[in-house]
Amino acid sequence: MLNKLNPWKSQNQPSSLRDRKIQIQSQEVPSHIAIIMDGNGRWAKKRSLPRVAGHHEGMKVVRKITRLANELGVKTLTLYAFSTENWKRPKMEVDFLMKLPEEFLGSFLPELVEENVRVTMMGNTDQLPAHTLKAVKKAMVDTKENTGLVLNFALNYGSRVEILQAVKQVLNDCENGKLDKENLNEEVFSSYLMTSDLEDPDLLIRTSGEIRLSNFMLWQLAYTEFFFTDVLWPDFSEEHFIEAVEVFQSRQRRFGGV
Ligand code: FPP
Repeated sequence: MLNKLNPWKSQNQPSSLRDRKIQIQSQEVPSHIAIIMDGNGRWAKKRSLPRVAGHHEGMKVVRKITRLANELGVKTLTLYAFSTENWKRPKMEVDFLMKLPEEFLGSFLPELVEENVRVTMMGNTDQLPAHTLKAVKKAMVDTKENTGLVLNFALNYGSRVEILQAVKQVLNDCENGKLDKENLNEEVFSSYLMTSDLEDPDLLIRTSGEIRLSNFMLWQLAYTEFFFTDVLWPDFSEEHFIEAVEVFQSRQRRFGGV
């Protein structure tokens, strides 16, 4: 398989990690993995650092996990980077979070282009600062022909807003004759959501010990396997990601048993 030849693969990883990767790739790898990257603030607090230091460290983990997901053959990685509720945070923190996509893409985009990763985003763009949007749009344009991993950022995303917008659009389309309400079913409704081009997540990971969805992909997670871990996002390692995939695969195997 092409991914096994991925040049990102580290030459010096411990054999157990390498073996676990090979084992994972010999089974069904979750096609779409969504992550609620939580615990940045607590990670920073534990080290007497400002909260934003946790976000910055979290950004480095995004890079690591993107590489690994691509290497394993995951098709879509959706990351909850900023929720519609996150605007309530102190302005300084919001400003910092809005600068992270620029910093991340500023240094990482050439590698994403090279490694066939396609960057997408879901969320309402109208409230995003121009500089944030510019960076994300550039990444989307530069990677639009790529056919490998889809790296989907949920940015100014909220599931309830998403569903409400979809309902309004459905009503409009029924009114103007584009849609017959008798034809409205789950598949058609899904096509009105921000994830219309994506399959539903197979696996949801949430870090930091919080066991809730926080307005994330409420419709799309209906049949998803959940993996919760106490690990704070900045501490989330390749091993943790692999563990989550292994747990997913063990559950799949049970379901498939006769
Ligand atoms: C939640 O942790 C995390 C966020 C609201 C932001 C997540 C953003 C990143 C991990 C970086 C994103 C990177 C890119 C490339 C866009 P929290 O701050 O709520 O943590 P706490 O619950 O410990 O306070």
